[in-house]
Amino acid sequence: MRIVEIPSGWSSIVRIVEDAGEREIEELLDLEERNEIALVRAVARQRERAASRMAAKSLAIERGFVDLPSRIRFTKSEARPVVLVDGVEPLLFVSFSHTAGIGAAALHDAPVGIDLEHERVIDPRATKFFLRDDELVLASSCSVENALLHWWCAKEAAFKLAADHPTLLRVPLALESESAEGLVLRGPRGSRVETVRLGVSLVAALAL
Ligand SMILES: CC(C)(COP(=O)(O)OP(=O)(O)OC[C@H]1O[C@@H](n2cnc3c(N)ncnc32)[C@H](O)[C@@H]1OP(=O)(O)O)[C@@H](O)C(=O)NCCC(=O)NCCS
Repeated sequence: MRIVEIPSGWSSIVRIVEDAGEREIEELLDLEERNEIALVRAVARQRERAASRMAAKSLAIERGFVDLPSRIRFTKSEARPVVLVDGVEPLLFVSFSHTAGIGAAALHDAPVGIDLEHERVIDPRATKFFLRDDELVLASSCSVENALLHWWCAKEAAFKLAADHPTLLRVPLALESESAEGLVLRGPRGSRVETVRLGVSLVAALAL
């Protein structure tokens, strides 16, 4: 499997995996998990789902949260992903995202949200579905390339973190700073949302 390069400040929390081989999938995911993934209809979606779970498991081992991949599993509570270690919910939070055959996971000891998007142009007419008027003014003033996609990604990550906003439009974001690679925004309940371009074709956002 290939681990996508991410900013060094993210590396203890985030892992992004692509091109996982069958043997690696079998090493990290047990039969029950592989069977669950096999129920996902499209093969591309299966690969992404396997990649995001492998990302979370390999990170959990590297961080010393578990010594074996079989000890950590992921379930759901009202659509939100939940961590189980030896069947018990530890004080660990997980978030998943997928795009173009790639799977991302964020694993942290506080609520966390991650989003990963393949580079694409967002139709400005679609902004009304995720940006409030004041946010659109801020987004339009950003000089980062494909700024609308960075805002979309930031909204998705903040939505996953916050859990108390019904739609992306209702997730408040304020711009704090920007660089050539991405944005820093303030999200709900004082959260910090950072976006970054990864390689030539990906944009990711991490909300903490
Ligand atoms: C839920 C949502 C964030 C998923 O995003 P997505 O881009 O479709 O898909 P991603 O791969 O990035 O994320 C999927 C993961 O999000 C996680 N997720 C789903 N619902 C979640 C929630 N309510 N809270 C936190 N995480 C959630 C799941 O882990 C899921 O992966 P899994 O099914 O493999 O476990 C997305 O459907 C959404 O934005 N919903 C808000 C409604 C809205 O306003 N939509 C936009 C209108 S234009």
